[in-house]
Amino acid sequence: MAPKAAITAVGGYVPEYRLTNKILETMVDTSDEWIISRTGIEERRILKGEGLGTSFMGLKAIDELLQKRGIKGAEIDAVVFCTTTGDMPVAANAAYVCSEIGADHAFGFDLQAACSGFLYGLFTGSQYIETGKFKKVLVVGADKMSSIIDYQDRTTCIIFGDGAGAVLLEPNEEGLGLQDSILRSDGSGREFLYIKAGGSMYPASEESVAKREHFVHQEGQQVFKFAVTNMAEVSARIMERNNLKADDVAFLVPHQANKRIIDATAKRMGIGPEKVMLNIHRYGNTTNGTLPLCLWDYEKQLKKGDNLIFSAFGGGFTWGSIYLSWAYDPA
Ligand code: UT7
Repeated sequence: MAPKAAITAVGGYVPEYRLTNKILETMVDTSDEWIISRTGIEERRILKGEGLGTSFMGLKAIDELLQKRGIKGAEIDAVVFCTTTGDMPVAANAAYVCSEIGADHAFGFDLQAACSGFLYGLFTGSQYIETGKFKKVLVVGADKMSSIIDYQDRTTCIIFGDGAGAVLLEPNEEGLGLQDSILRSDGSGREFLYIKAGGSMYPASEESVAKREHFVHQEGQQVFKFAVTNMAEVSARIMERNNLKADDVAFLVPHQANKRIIDATAKRMGIGPEKVMLNIHRYGNTTNGTLPLCLWDYEKQLKKGDNLIFSAFGGGFTWGSIYLSWAYDPA
């Protein structure tokens, strides 16, 4: 039997600085009450410091992971670095990370699928394990969203934050690990969530900077409608096709974009709030960071054999769900 790809360690990192709703009230026309009732967010973390990019946070998460697992970076075979905010437009974070941790026989690449990046990355990394070709694959989800957010735009600046998480994938012969996945995309959604300039269609120019076109633009209501429907639908479908009842699911691991989207997904799956990983109130939407940061926060509550349903929706549009059996007990 081919091995399954199991998560065998988790690491995480969030910057120290807390951007609270109260502080945002002094920056844009908003209120703590509005933000909490519409999104569930109370504060987010922001990475401060000249010249620090996404790899800085990713490396912190990886360092913690390697320490917990008791292995050296040299043992890593591949790095999938999921991010929408690479350190630079060219020169992949993954290559830099491989060198920094001493993974000298590894290969690595960055994966960009907006808020579904880590979900796609978890699937992609798993394939390298399932083929038997590789034994230790790092999947990192990290974003410095503060680098692409317009702090004059109240419809986006209240949502996003910075953070990073990482998981290690290894072969499992007991049948634990990734069981099933549904990954989807729909390019008609790109008119509702995008950064207009800085790519090949509209390269950076003085005009693009003046028009603030290097920041995230989101039609919130439109994205909300698609997110609510699609995240709930794939999560319910992956349960159905694996004959999982609500009692069989230990936790939903949902992308943290809006608490109302998470609640709707859990409701559709028929699971109660006690089975929903939630940290949006503390970190906001960290894009590629949300899923691994959920695992980081809930790791101590997870037991070997627990069934987890991951679910995400993001720009593109991209979305999907993964069913994974947890492979270890708390230390
Ligand atoms: O992670 C990637 C995928 N992204 C998502 O899943 C995000 C999906 N969208 C959302 O989560 C929500 O649409 C938002 C949180 C972005 C916005 O919430 P909403 O309930 O859809 O608000 P809305 O856009 O319908 O705006 C309602 C009102 C508007 O005022 P009027 O037109 O009713 O007078 C907005 O101008 O709230 C106003 N508003 C605000 N008021 C206070 C918008 N942003 C704010 C704000 N503070 N920050």
